Amino acid sequence: MSLTPDAAAAPRGSRLAGRVAIVTGAAQGIGAAVVDLFLDEGARVVCVDHNPESLAARWGAADAAHCLSVTADVSDEDAVARSVAATVEVFGGVDVVVNVAGIAGPQTPAGDTPVEEWDRTQEVNLRGTFLMVKHCLPSLVARRGAVVNIASALALVGWPDESAYGPSKAGVVQFTKSVALDYAPHVRSNCVCPGAVRTPMITSVLEGTPDLERALAEYGSIHPLGGRLAEPHQIADAVLFLASDDASFVTGIALPVDGGFTAT
Ligand SMILES: NC(=O)c1ccc[n+]([C@@H]2O[C@H](COP(=O)([O-])OP(=O)(O)OC[C@H]3O[C@@H](n4cnc5c(N)ncnc54)[C@H](O)[C@@H]3O)[C@@H](O)[C@H]2O)c1
Repeated sequence: MSLTPDAAAAPRGSRLAGRVAIVTGAAQGIGAAVVDLFLDEGARVVCVDHNPESLAARWGAADAAHCLSVTADVSDEDAVARSVAATVEVFGGVDVVVNVAGIAGPQTPAGDTPVEEWDRTQEVNLRGTFLMVKHCLPSLVARRGAVVNIASALALVGWPDESAYGPSKAGVVQFTKSVALDYAPHVRSNCVCPGAVRTPMITSVLEGTPDLERALAEYGSIHPLGGRLAEPHQIADAVLFLASDDASFVTGIALPVDGGFTAT
């Protein structure tokens, strides 16, 4: 018996040729690394972020034929609907949506977590992911597209003082699976669960720490593989895999990219 793959692997540099992608949280960190890689792989990309200054600083000079910036807060349904409509108007549809936008939320146990901060963490991390997928689905179904959400290793294991962030990311994992089941075979839906990554988010969490480099090294030491922080491009590589035809028979997974952290 011979097995025939659905699609032959595309060569490097063209794995997203002809595809249109929306990437949220695109102004910096993991989102910016995803946009960089997607553009290198031939996609046209709509960069969504709620911070217009950082969007302009990062993508203002990009080639407008391939890269469009849209300012939107992903927790605001009207803003999400407008960003998807702009994508359809300019590039004709959506083949891939990558939900990267997220906030760290308060670093506190439940009893010390302000309700407004708990709510805001769910609104950005979970509701924002839901809204973007919901509004992209008509196009994703029509074009046999892919969803890639960024959850976290902290969706898979408990961690002290993450009473808001951990649940928001665990919700992203379950939402990812729900979309995978409800929209197969038309749409694939997967998520990536990074360990600690060197981005502005992790630096802001450690703000005020007297020895920042040492604190970053301690975060890095949770990863058996290398004992250091991941770099954003290492997360982007996993996102590309899940977004491309290389993952044509992969749906409903939560892929740890965490240097072995959740294996311990
Ligand atoms: N850095 C890590 O160690 C790490 C680990 C696991 C998971 N993650 C997840 O990866 C994603 C990206 O993290 P990062 O480290 O690159 O963060 P970051 O803070 O460096 O970048 C996040 C981006 O999202 C944007 N954003 C925030 N709230 C938004 C909103 N309401 N609407 C639109 N855009 C918004 C920010 O402006 C920023 O550009 C997040 O979902 C985060 O939870 C990060």
